[in-house]
Amino acid sequence: MNVVGARPNLMKIAPLMEAYASEPALEPLLVHTGQHYDDNMSDLFFRQLGIPEPDLNLGVGSGSHAVQTAEIMRAFEPVLLEHRPGAVLVVGDVNSTIACGLVAVKLGVRLVHVEAGLRSFDRGMPEEINRVLTDSISDLLFCTERSGVLNLRREGIPEERIHLVGNVMIDTLLRHRAAAESSRVLEELALPPGGYAVLTLHRPSNVDHPETLEKLLDALEVVQGDMPLVFPAHPRTRAKLAEFGLARRLGSLPGLLLLDPIGYLDFLKLLASARLVLTDSGGIQEETTILRVPCLTLRENTERPVTVEMGSNRLVGADPQRILAAYREIAGGEAPAFGVPPLWDGRAAARIVRILAEAL
Ligand code: UD1
Repeated sequence: MNVVGARPNLMKIAPLMEAYASEPALEPLLVHTGQHYDDNMSDLFFRQLGIPEPDLNLGVGSGSHAVQTAEIMRAFEPVLLEHRPGAVLVVGDVNSTIACGLVAVKLGVRLVHVEAGLRSFDRGMPEEINRVLTDSISDLLFCTERSGVLNLRREGIPEERIHLVGNVMIDTLLRHRAAAESSRVLEELALPPGGYAVLTLHRPSNVDHPETLEKLLDALEVVQGDMPLVFPAHPRTRAKLAEFGLARRLGSLPGLLLLDPIGYLDFLKLLASARLVLTDSGGIQEETTILRVPCLTLRENTERPVTVEMGSNRLVGADPQRILAAYREIAGGEAPAFGVPPLWDGRAAARIVRILAEAL
């Protein structure tokens, strides 16, 4: 039984659902918790990525962390009791991941975690709590990068549970890269290939505090004066900008293109043709590494250190001076050569499904 809840889970589950077809011993079911429910945060991705319709949708929706996690657990338990799967597979680090994982192990159902072992070592991040807890109760742990394996070993996870398999999100990227090439998004937004920047911002540490958000805007104001800056804004960020009275300032910046969340293919095209990307997302740090586009991560830490080792990603925090110093260096320089992490080759899902078929 495979679980998705939030947007970043969808790129991770898509190649797994496809790979199950080559393992007839496994009968996959798909459960959507409903953590993300807007068409452009969920359904659109199912359509574009060819993910089968979920067998069940728990329809949980938004809430505080405790309410959301608890509601997912309440709704998921009867589903597990009815279907009694051989294993529950969760991906990533969202509230749906830990909620369903906890229900599974309490009912004695084996738990599989895809994207295990990543650590920012920042316990102030809700996702870090979800990662540590999910890994500690999982029976099979699939890692995207070597740092994940080392972290799990250090935490005392038995070696035989840990598998370094590569990155399912990169499977999805490689599979859809050609289709994304024919997206017309650059023409629609009148963006010059290689001559604009992309921004995403949604981490609570950046957007939930007016002072931090304002400091970020100071830096972004300079960037958009220099080259077009495309900003598909997450719903929580939109809400916070309005709440802090910052929406007007953002709207007055002529070089900043504020958009609603956009689909996978258009976004991939936007990333691939950008001069650089500014983000606080986890997944985008990985996608830019494969696309060989410089990424400035607006955080002090990353749970994906391989992206920094490969040279594509730089941690610049939320301080305008640091952001702009790095921006100027990249915008003014030659495009450097970046490496590709081992096993990020488009075959991670196939490896996972093979190991699962043996284990189950
Ligand atoms: C969640 C994940 C985060 C992931 C992000 C990607 C957790 C703890 N966090 O954060 O790791 O990077 O998804 O998007 O699980 N909302 C909508 N429509 C939707 C979904 C959400 O308007 O379809 C709004 C709601 O007002 C909600 C807010 O966005 O309160 C935040 O949604 P939530 O799922 O709680 O967390 P995210 O910030 O999306």
